[in-house]
Amino acid sequence: MRTQVGIIGAGPAGLLLSHLLHLQGIDSVVLESRSREQIESTIRAGVLEQGTMDLLTETGVGERMKAEGALHHGFELAFEGKRRRIDLTDLTGKAITVYAQHEVIKDLVAARVAAQGALHFGVSDVSLHDIDGTTPTIRFRHEGEAHDLQCDFIIGCDGSQGISRNSIPEALRRDYQRVYPFGWFGILAEAPPSSDELIYARHERGFALVSTRSPNVQRMYFQCDPKDNVDNWSDDRIWAELHARVDSDEGHKVVEGKIFQKNIVGMRSFVSTTMQHGRLFLAGDAAHIVPPTGAKGLNLAVSDVRILSDALRAFYKEDRSDKLESYSETALKRIWRAEHFSYWMTRMMHRLDDASPFEQQLQVAELEHVTTSRSAAISMAENYVGAVAV
Ligand code: APR
Ligand code: PHB
Repeated sequence: MRTQVGIIGAGPAGLLLSHLLHLQGIDSVVLESRSREQIESTIRAGVLEQGTMDLLTETGVGERMKAEGALHHGFELAFEGKRRRIDLTDLTGKAITVYAQHEVIKDLVAARVAAQGALHFGVSDVSLHDIDGTTPTIRFRHEGEAHDLQCDFIIGCDGSQGISRNSIPEALRRDYQRVYPFGWFGILAEAPPSSDELIYARHERGFALVSTRSPNVQRMYFQCDPKDNVDNWSDDRIWAELHARVDSDEGHKVVEGKIFQKNIVGMRSFVSTTMQHGRLFLAGDAAHIVPPTGAKGLNLAVSDVRILSDALRAFYKEDRSDKLESYSETALKRIWRAEHFSYWMTRMMHRLDDASPFEQQLQVAELEHVTTSRSAAISMAENYVGAVAV
């Protein structure tokens, strides 16, 4: 078996890369350890930056996003019993779409299948060979048989738990990490929207976020102990906590409904450098993680593969390898910007058990600043919609 680009992982990074390469006439094979049903139903994030929306639309996979996603022109910050709006479109000329990641996955899988792209689910025992030699090879098992896939390039899009990152020699790698002492408790509920836009709430009891999935299904989160168990939380206890954190003195209330999904996720910031070695390149969660507060995870995966697909195009169509050589450096600029933004928003919005009363007042002062100073609001909005120059 042979291909030009061997891609490990069918998350947003791997699938979109394969789609973008196909549009350039570059051949790829995607290898995924889980089943199609699993990847199409795993609940993850849901905010698409303007640039992500535009790329999906321009490359022919944005139709359902446009029809079923919710276009938002702003979001709300709730603190000290009040709500203040960040008007993204007024501040940046751009917007976001709330559209679940697994719906993006469905659209990308459908496009790859329609184009008869090579996409193998349920592979196992994936290992990489000769990544800095002349015949980079992915060895794996599929439907009971062992295979060797020879590639020009191997792209590790296998998420935070994947195997690709560890194929870069440790002596050449440097990892940066911060683990937060809190997590997010996420729910899906059958209910009408509580608000026209997302609400990020800072409260003494902890952070909460009101998001949406459709006119009938809402997604909400609240800060929790990452070691807590969903079984400790009855529906009544969850609604009481959300009311306490999100309802405002100005009369806004969270709308309750039947909760049909509960999960707890830990939070960390992580960057692994370098993102390339020989003929191996990393993209998406395989190389970096952000806490979900800034809604950057999916969008960073998209920006990595946009840079990488352009570098591969330049290699195959213009016979130049400079863009490939500088891939890691180019991608890391946006990654570090998003790491800082996500960290900043996380620190501003969450209850920090080690924060002194002085530092808690600084959180409020910062929220007052971004909701009253136009230049501070522009900076936040540019980061949120992904319009910041890096
Ligand atoms: N072999 C094949 N596939 C693998 C392997 C392996 N050894 N290890 C992991 N995978 C698959 C996973 O099953 C998963 O489907 O790689 C895929 C990685 O996908 P994601 O974790 O979604 O990562 P990525 O495509 O980088 O997208 C990042 O996901 O978690 C969110 O916030 C994050 O939105 C961001 C997005
Ligand atoms: C979501 O809808 O899942 C969501 C929205 C905004 C975030 C994180 C997650 O910052």
